[in-house]
Amino acid sequence: MSPVRAALVVGTLALALSACTRPERPVDTGRAAYMEHCSSCHGKTARGDGPMAVLVTTGVPDLRQLAERIGGEFPKAYVIEIVTRISDLHDGIMAMPDFGALLGASPTVYTAPDGEQIQTYAVIVAIADYLESVQD
Ligand code: HEC
Repeated sequence: MSPVRAALVVGTLALALSACTRPERPVDTGRAAYMEHCSSCHGKTARGDGPMAVLVTTGVPDLRQLAERIGGEFPKAYVIEIVTRISDLHDGIMAMPDFGALLGASPTVYTAPDGEQIQTYAVIVAIADYLESVQD
């Protein structure tokens, strides 16, 4: 079989396989990304009790209380901003990595309820959706 033909067969198989798998909901994508990148500090349950949290002397916030703390609506724009470019918000003093640089694939624009447009990345919006789904 020629290499081109082989590549076509492989491509067709991959397409057929992806058609069989259940479509992923954004919340599932966000949950998986959260577990991979955030749970080490913020904890599997997002209570701020991940295994790395003991190393952060200033404390790691409980992310299930973001909405309750400000009294209602989940602050999705704030979460997206802080995760995408935290260094801007914290004047470069931070215990948390700058995830815009780490997860910077699939750029997207999130439009906040007040119309603010935030340049971010698809996976970060998915993580924010997941966190919204686990608020107290
Ligand atoms: C190395 C540990 C660490 C990791 C990993 C980490 N964070 Fe954080 N995060 C912190 C700390 C510590 C703070 C408190 C602010 C600071 O000192 O940077 C924080 C603050 C936050 C805040 C603001 C909370 C508030 O109460 O205002 C959000 C939202 C957040 N993190 C989300 C995430 C998400 C989403 C991820 C994964 C993409 C993540 N963090 C990964 C340590 C971490």
